[in-house]
Amino acid sequence: MTTLTKSQDKALNLVVKASDKNERLFILWYGGVRAGKTFGAVRAFIEHSLTRTNSNYIIAGYVLRSIINNVVPYFRTICDELDLEYNVVEGGVNPRVEIGTNRFLFYGGDKTGTSKKSQGLTADGLLADEYELLNRDFLKQCEARISKDAALRIYTSNKGQKYSWAKKEYYDRIKAGYINGVIIDSNPEENTFVSDDFWDEKEREFEGNYKQRFLRNEFTLDSPSLYDVDYIDFDDDMKLAVLGVYSYGNDHFTIPFYLFGESFVLGEIEKYNAPIKLNIDNDIVLLMINSSAPKLAREMVFNGYNVKGYLDMFAPNKVEMSQRAFANSKVAVLDNAEYTKEIIETYSTPGVVNPAITLIDSVIEYLNRSEQWL
Ligand SMILES: Nc1ncnc2c1ncn2[C@@H]1O[C@H](COP(=O)(O)OP(=O)(O)O)[C@@H](O)[C@H]1O
Ligand SMILES: [Mg+2]
Repeated sequence: MTTLTKSQDKALNLVVKASDKNERLFILWYGGVRAGKTFGAVRAFIEHSLTRTNSNYIIAGYVLRSIINNVVPYFRTICDELDLEYNVVEGGVNPRVEIGTNRFLFYGGDKTGTSKKSQGLTADGLLADEYELLNRDFLKQCEARISKDAALRIYTSNKGQKYSWAKKEYYDRIKAGYINGVIIDSNPEENTFVSDDFWDEKEREFEGNYKQRFLRNEFTLDSPSLYDVDYIDFDDDMKLAVLGVYSYGNDHFTIPFYLFGESFVLGEIEKYNAPIKLNIDNDIVLLMINSSAPKLAREMVFNGYNVKGYLDMFAPNKVEMSQRAFANSKVAVLDNAEYTKEIIETYSTPGVVNPAITLIDSVIEYLNRSEQWL
């Protein structure tokens, strides 16, 4: 029989109890690096599967490779220890592990477009490994398939950004009682299967946010923001210069840029449903970003707004322009614009598409083109 850590024991007991009572179970499993989360989750899923036949489970990971490298070895180890026959299929259209008549299908976030064939799949469980790294839509697509009775979900993660969508959507909502789930929180020390040398090395090498997240098992603000921002209180002399609009489906959000002396001040993000009705002066320039904007733009033009159609998606060169615009105080942020502040302070990864940042970058580029300050 396998020896388990304290948290792994807890997870396994919860799974056994839920299986016995034929109940659904959702475990959100946070913890430091090497705390035994992934190993424990695989152990729990195998246990769950032993009560069923002809079942499908989804193993979701950042990319297919990360599942094969980080999760599959634990299937091998655990099946060997439990004396279960298994078969691993790494390639083809359905990479998976088979144990008896049950299948654990690998869904990599990099392969979402090609997984259409399994759209109709109804699964008995979902293991989302390092779920904070996953794209939100991808995770939702996986969740939509977990429709069998008494299904099991386990999501593992280090504690990342305290503002991350994942933490807000799951951790905060479980705590608030909106989602029926159990949070397991594992400190690295409870995993005695990792050598002390490893911990000594990490204690020496990890600093700041990494130490906090991976060793202390705490939420952080992750990497420093890309933007070095000045915060300014509202001043009566500020006047609205440009309103950026981003639309997706029937939802839109706007970001105001106020003119203040020679500089611009970025205000609060506001969300709207269609049709959008803005209480602004016709002189104000509206900047529409992204591919679903043309329809909205026509509507706004028809209603007499001063629209500068400007379709654009993320381009890395604009990040640099925005960095400079913030760094030389050409663009600042209103101190009480809480949501805008949060978006900017937590933006640390260029290349990851974030609609609000795309809109901010695009408006800054537009302003720079018309004012040539960089
Ligand atoms: N119950 C266990 N028995 C043996 N080894 C374990 C056990 N739990 C974890 N380990 C080992 O500890 C290491 C870290 O476990 P892992 O589950 O990958 O941590 P995490 O996902 O929390 O980062 C791995 O090398 C794994 O093989
Ligand atoms: Mg892991």
